[in-house]
Amino acid sequence: MKRFNAVRKREHWSSRTGFILAAAGSAVGLGNIWRFPFVTGENGGAIFLVVYLAMIVFIGYPLFINEMAIGRLSQKDPVGAFRALAPGTPWWLAGGLGVFTGFLILSYYSVVAGWSLAYTWRAMLVGFSEASDFSAEFGAHISSAPVLLMWHGIFMVLCMGIISLGIKRGIERWSEILMPLLFLLMILLIIRSITLDGAWDGIRYFLRPEIGRISPRMLLNAVAQSFFTLSIGMGAIITYGSYLKREDEIPGNAAWVVGMDTVIAILSGFMIFPAVFSFGLEPGSGAGLTFMTLPNVFAMMPFGRFFGFSFFLLLSIAALTSAISLLETVTAYLVDEKGVRRGWAVVALGTLIFLAGIPPILGYSAWTGWRFLGQFDVLDTYDWFANSLFLPLGALAAAVFTGYAWHIRNAAAEVNKGAGRLRVGAWWGVLIRYVIPAVVAVIIIAGLIDTFWKVK
Ligand code: PHE
Repeated sequence: MKRFNAVRKREHWSSRTGFILAAAGSAVGLGNIWRFPFVTGENGGAIFLVVYLAMIVFIGYPLFINEMAIGRLSQKDPVGAFRALAPGTPWWLAGGLGVFTGFLILSYYSVVAGWSLAYTWRAMLVGFSEASDFSAEFGAHISSAPVLLMWHGIFMVLCMGIISLGIKRGIERWSEILMPLLFLLMILLIIRSITLDGAWDGIRYFLRPEIGRISPRMLLNAVAQSFFTLSIGMGAIITYGSYLKREDEIPGNAAWVVGMDTVIAILSGFMIFPAVFSFGLEPGSGAGLTFMTLPNVFAMMPFGRFFGFSFFLLLSIAALTSAISLLETVTAYLVDEKGVRRGWAVVALGTLIFLAGIPPILGYSAWTGWRFLGQFDVLDTYDWFANSLFLPLGALAAAVFTGYAWHIRNAAAEVNKGAGRLRVGAWWGVLIRYVIPAVVAVIIIAGLIDTFWKVK
């Protein structure tokens, strides 16, 4: 079977748009629509935005290019990619960490995506009534483990179905359907939101510059958000890059994906805050903003059921195209490294990831008292390890690898192969070799200190 796979030709994206939409599908997810607006609102509005944009341009974009190049040259999953470029060295461990992180992220990402599916279903069937207490309802929803388990399972089955179809017929085809739909829904919801009375208050809240908010904590939030939102640091972009042909372009495609991700994140703020403020609600944070506050908005808005349905459908689509990139990364590892057939790999991994999602679900019912370091529930614990530790470590490893093991000259030449007008120059090497490792290392350490400091 191994030999059979080795001689079988690797699938490739069928067009440039195919790659861009698939990679943008990976990048645009819960991180953009659910997380970005409240993180921005809480961290100083426009000031946070400026810092975040700087992180995207000087750290995220160069790393995105780096991962695409590692994938395109090696034509392999993350473990195989490092092995191919640095044979006989332990660098493959960097890929291994990535694959493990993908597994970990998907196990809880799918649980949250399940909440979103449940709310989409509910909007369609019954809508949101003004008489409801949505905070209490959300509490009841997440403490009902069997219901959560069912939606988490449904979401995993959707991912498995798409991934089992392969690159062209699965990921690419579905991204080409879902991403334009996501964009349309978003435009519709933004128009609705910014034409409500009092919409300006929301925009003012989202973007008011608060200089005093610049702090180490805020810088940390900005960099963590930029890795998560661009899907870098865990090999998803290496994997998607490995389905590019060797002559396909890199810097321009990367710019498209990073640009789309950034625009959609900012637009989410314009979609959410004007509506929240127009109805005199508190912006709240995180899960609360999406699942407790927004249903109130839909309850009060004319045609709220339709807009509510559209919003949760949008959120579910964004989550689905990201989740398939996570599942593809772990699947590619089994297929490329272990010679497992795609179909079997998908079933085995989908099942394991489903099981790994059970503890985060129980964290809201049977295990409500459980806390890691006295502060994180189970889902937040998974998220903390992934976001504060593994993603930055993975990104750091990939930068050090390229800067010092692969050698920056070879890497830059590889990146520019097939490139059009947009090319990388010496600046890219400086960022990859010095700036990014230094900044990311400081951030990982500061993040650890910050977390353990609070444990008394
Ligand atoms: N980028 C996705 C989001 O913003 C999450 C993700 C992270 C997807 C890592 C793949 C890999 O929601």
